[in-house]
Amino acid sequence: MHKTPIKCGVIGHPISHSKSPVIHNHWIALHGLNGTYNAIDVTPEGLKEGIENLISHGYAGFNVTIPYKQAVMALCDGVDNTARTIGAVNTVKIENGKLYGTNTDAFGFLENLKSKRYAIDKTKPAVILGAGGAARAVVYGLLKDGYEHIILTNRTMEKAQEIAEMDKAKITATPWDARHEVIKDAGLLVNTTALGMAGKEPLEIDLSDLSASCVVCDIVYVPLMTELLLQAQARGNPVVTGIGMLLHQARPAFQKWFGVLPDVDDALMRKVLP
Ligand code: ATR
Repeated sequence: MHKTPIKCGVIGHPISHSKSPVIHNHWIALHGLNGTYNAIDVTPEGLKEGIENLISHGYAGFNVTIPYKQAVMALCDGVDNTARTIGAVNTVKIENGKLYGTNTDAFGFLENLKSKRYAIDKTKPAVILGAGGAARAVVYGLLKDGYEHIILTNRTMEKAQEIAEMDKAKITATPWDARHEVIKDAGLLVNTTALGMAGKEPLEIDLSDLSASCVVCDIVYVPLMTELLLQAQARGNPVVTGIGMLLHQARPAFQKWFGVLPDVDDALMRKVLP
């Protein structure tokens, strides 16, 4: 065991809802490590000072959540290709007082999807609903995993077009109104908007024309079974809930600070289920 504890945490605003402390403290205990992981509320005006505090208190690193994923990227001394392409940092390692940023959201999305072991035809279009920060991470992950055609459908076309710049040969941007047309041939359908989350507007989508084998994924996890997933499940489509993305994105962050790549076990799943 280390003599001095390895200190980590998550910064955001608000932060009280964050499940990250439960996840990381579960692994710290499971692996018998001497470490701490706490949630730190940092106001927008206090962001720089808040991070300087973490450095001066000897933190090994931290996670970044809403609304700082872009702002922290700008404050990093180094950023890897993954974070640069996604355009956001969710994990920082502190070394000799310097900040090194990466993004583990694409890994989290893919690992969660793969954990279900569904056979997905990667030559068929993967249709992504939304074109915000979460969509960027999902698209990056799908490109890395060899999906040949990604169709983004978003209310604001320009945002979808911007993401399509990642790989113009493989990504198509379409308007939100086209979503029922483009899902017809989809092998994978992913909701990356917050629509359908408890307290938000519903996601208006009719899955009548979806092929029976299309895998349907939601990154919203409150409720666990969103209306989208319930509708998909009712017609027999394979579904993937969003909670696993949250758990899997935490694994490489934990590894950066503690040197162990932890697993997602049932006990952890039970601790974070809504
Ligand atoms: P995040 O970074 O978490 O993905 P975001 O950047 O706010 O969040 O993106 C939210 C996504 O939900 C966007 O794609 C947004 O569409 P716009 O780009 O047009 O804003 C989408 N969204 C939010 N409310 C919506 C609504 N009522 N109908 C359709 N799409 C909506």
